[in-house]
Amino acid sequence: MTQSKSMKQLSSQFFENNGPLKGINICVIGGGFVGLASAAGFAQFGHAVVCVEKDSRRLEQLMKGQLPFFEPELEELILRSIQAKRLSFTADLRQAIKGQRAIFITVGTPTGADGRTDLSALEEVTLSLSEVLEPDQIIVLKSTVPVGTGKHIESILSQNGRKNKPFAVVNNPEFLREGNAVNDFFRPQRIVIGGSVSEAVELVANIYKLGMSQPVPFVITNNETAEMIKYASNAFLAAKVGYVNELAGLCDLLGVNVLEVARAIGLDPRIGSEFLEPGPGWGGSCFHKDLKEFSGLAESKGYSLLITAAVLASNDRQHNLVVEKIKKLVGTLKGSKIGVLGLAFKANTSDVRESPAIAVVKNLLEQGAKVTAFDPKANGAAKEHLPALEIAESPYDTIRDSDCLVILTEWREFQLLDFKLIFETMRRPNIVDTRNLLTPELLSRFGFNYTGMGQT
Ligand code: UDX
Repeated sequence: MTQSKSMKQLSSQFFENNGPLKGINICVIGGGFVGLASAAGFAQFGHAVVCVEKDSRRLEQLMKGQLPFFEPELEELILRSIQAKRLSFTADLRQAIKGQRAIFITVGTPTGADGRTDLSALEEVTLSLSEVLEPDQIIVLKSTVPVGTGKHIESILSQNGRKNKPFAVVNNPEFLREGNAVNDFFRPQRIVIGGSVSEAVELVANIYKLGMSQPVPFVITNNETAEMIKYASNAFLAAKVGYVNELAGLCDLLGVNVLEVARAIGLDPRIGSEFLEPGPGWGGSCFHKDLKEFSGLAESKGYSLLITAAVLASNDRQHNLVVEKIKKLVGTLKGSKIGVLGLAFKANTSDVRESPAIAVVKNLLEQGAKVTAFDPKANGAAKEHLPALEIAESPYDTIRDSDCLVILTEWREFQLLDFKLIFETMRRPNIVDTRNLLTPELLSRFGFNYTGMGQT
């Protein structure tokens, strides 16, 4: 088969030129969260990386080593890679892919109007690539893509590119968590690589092996299975968080402390202790998008993912449960003054996409409450979503003369506030702690009416 033959040549050529584990030329298309973490990570491994970003403002920042969003350690890693001349940025995709061994695509794959994944950005990049693809280049899909997309991209490349040029499309889904991306990149739980051309899969595996200081499990499979693994992983994680949120709701009604229950069940290795922290609901740019795609994919095959549908519904209800908790403490929301701490969808990120905090604040404003909010990193992003929201300069400014303090994101600094001062400056000493950041015993000693999620 010509394709595998040439990939064999490629593979031996790769090993001749580079030895089994030496740096190669890599192009990363898309300077977003995943693209930048991958580009900087590959550069750190010793590869030569060029990252393509078409947004001119973002490109200008990246060329100076500045990150357009907050992600711990990433900006420093990018700057170091630029200074080591192993990472550069450009807007010119055609120029950027010349001479590249592997081309990683990390463009956005958001939810479309029909609830399924919008692949337009990916298809646009693929069409551009098809005109300039060089022999034996490997396309690596790192964006989260619906099952079957690898084959779909292959057919676009075959139909539009010069037919006799063999290439390979490999799926390499990422599992990075926002706020933890650099750590997750260098210490992954596993590396999943799916493809039908074994030499291409092996080459992508070697891209990682070059930089891994300790052994990491590799899952080598086909394109569709690699795509499915990503959705299965996120759908399970969302279900686990949704489960503990529901458990917390029941514990509230029974006066049981959910944290003690969660710790006890988490000691069973079949359950595991991670992702058992109740909160205002899960958010972020991935879970909701991926669960909608997962459900839509099943429906398109005449099948229903009942558990995933319930996880989505339960998460929507969680936002309303938080508002009910606030209402229970302040009486009527209309005219009440609420101080909100935390707007990002989780701590250590500036991202407010699908943030439960935004959903809760929107609900409070719609019910006539006066809301003032503060977040260490997400104030600007939140203001774009909620122009009517008053943003404070500090946590204490949100709390002054308020009828209730609501903690919606688990920033560490909120644990270290001066609660004696807060008690003296609030109009009414009510606290709704949706992240169980604080301890009820301590706060009731100050005289607060405290309610957490599954603990009071
Ligand atoms: C997730 C997956 O973890 C990651 O592997 C994938 O690549 C992208 O999607 P991310 O969305 O960045 O990562 O955040 P994650 O840490 O998974 O948290 C998702 C949401 O669940 C957040 O809103 C978080 O606050 C919430 N959460 C998480 C809880 O409420 N409780 C928990 O115990 C854990």
